[in-house]
Amino acid sequence: MGESPKTTVSVIKADIGSLAGHHIVHPDTIAVASRVLAEGKSKGVIVDYYVTNVGDDLQLIMTHRKGVDNEQVHELAWRAFKEATKVAKDLGLYAAGQDLLSEAFSGNVRGLGPGVAEMEFVERPSEPIIVFMADKTEPGAFNLPMYRIFADPFNTAGLVIDPRLHGGFKFVVHDVFEGKEITLNAPEEIYDLLALIGTPSRFVVRKVLRKSDNEIGAVVSVERLSLIAGRYVGKDDPVAIVRAQSGFPAAGEILEAFSHPHLVAGWMRGSHHGPLMPVGMRYAKVTRFDGPPRVVALGFNVKNAKLIGPADLFDDVAFDEARRMAQLVTDYMRRHGPFMPHRLGPEEMEYTTLPEVLEKLKDRFVETEARKAAKPKVESELLAHKSQSEDVD
Ligand code: F6R
Ligand code: MG
Ligand code: MG
Repeated sequence: MGESPKTTVSVIKADIGSLAGHHIVHPDTIAVASRVLAEGKSKGVIVDYYVTNVGDDLQLIMTHRKGVDNEQVHELAWRAFKEATKVAKDLGLYAAGQDLLSEAFSGNVRGLGPGVAEMEFVERPSEPIIVFMADKTEPGAFNLPMYRIFADPFNTAGLVIDPRLHGGFKFVVHDVFEGKEITLNAPEEIYDLLALIGTPSRFVVRKVLRKSDNEIGAVVSVERLSLIAGRYVGKDDPVAIVRAQSGFPAAGEILEAFSHPHLVAGWMRGSHHGPLMPVGMRYAKVTRFDGPPRVVALGFNVKNAKLIGPADLFDDVAFDEARRMAQLVTDYMRRHGPFMPHRLGPEEMEYTTLPEVLEKLKDRFVETEARKAAKPKVESELLAHKSQSEDVD
């Protein structure tokens, strides 16, 4: 099969162990993953790569000509994670191999633990892209910024004044509980869209396409490790790729969506709401209460499938106030301790100790006086209702 004239960008990430808790990837694991990708490059599996991390997640940013979901590319990423895990184990790093849920590779890393965002396109003469990588949160954390970038004229001026954006965008939304997807058009269907993606734990923006020509604008990783593994194995710290400029939102419009550090689920034990703090690479690590959740933005130009860059886009004083706001919100939320809405709601706590606590205490729950008093009345009403309906029969 011949190589495609199109370029594919694949961002595949996994937590394979980290230093001093779930804090930061060790440089030796980055080095070994880079070596594996260098071999893949010399064998022609990929054209280029950049290996980095945010917090405890090892990030493989790769370019190639093999399309999305390609077995060779996924196998290469899997091998990089496996080799890095060996080093993590040798160094006694914490939670070594955490996100690799299977021993063996079976054609595709989806469902095996790593998170994946991939897009294929014909390169424009200049092809700027931004890769977003977040730690201590979930894929739905990108719902709000994706909406702002591609559907909110108060964020993206181009939606109003650039004819190439004026037609709007299509949002492909995944229902991660049901394993279904739906495509909704903006601006026509924004109320329906918001009704869904306002529940980011369940409905996740997976892709955004330009309506006029179906050209891909953005893609987000949507794996939910807890749904795959059936138990809590860490939040699926997500990644996203967004194309910028000439017919897409400008880089500055894309970054603007992160100037408000919105509340996301994740943080300590994947069980708390906290602000998503935009940071430069030097602060791509999580400390306070294992957080707060962070997002970095690396800008590249893609030329002949080569990665030119990166630019560390949140490493700018222009985001200082967003970070300061995130610090204030961190303090405010932390003071709630174990109370909702800092701690997630019961449906999201399903994979933690909450069911065990309820099970342990179940025999100690006694009926309240109010309930006892109400019971005879409710029962007699039920009986009356039953005999009435029997009369009708
Ligand atoms: C959240 C996360 C951490 C851990 C926490 C407890 O995604 O990775 O907040 O949940 O540090 O970790 P364990 O259970 O490994 O001691
Ligand atoms: Mg982790
Ligand atoms: Mg992580």
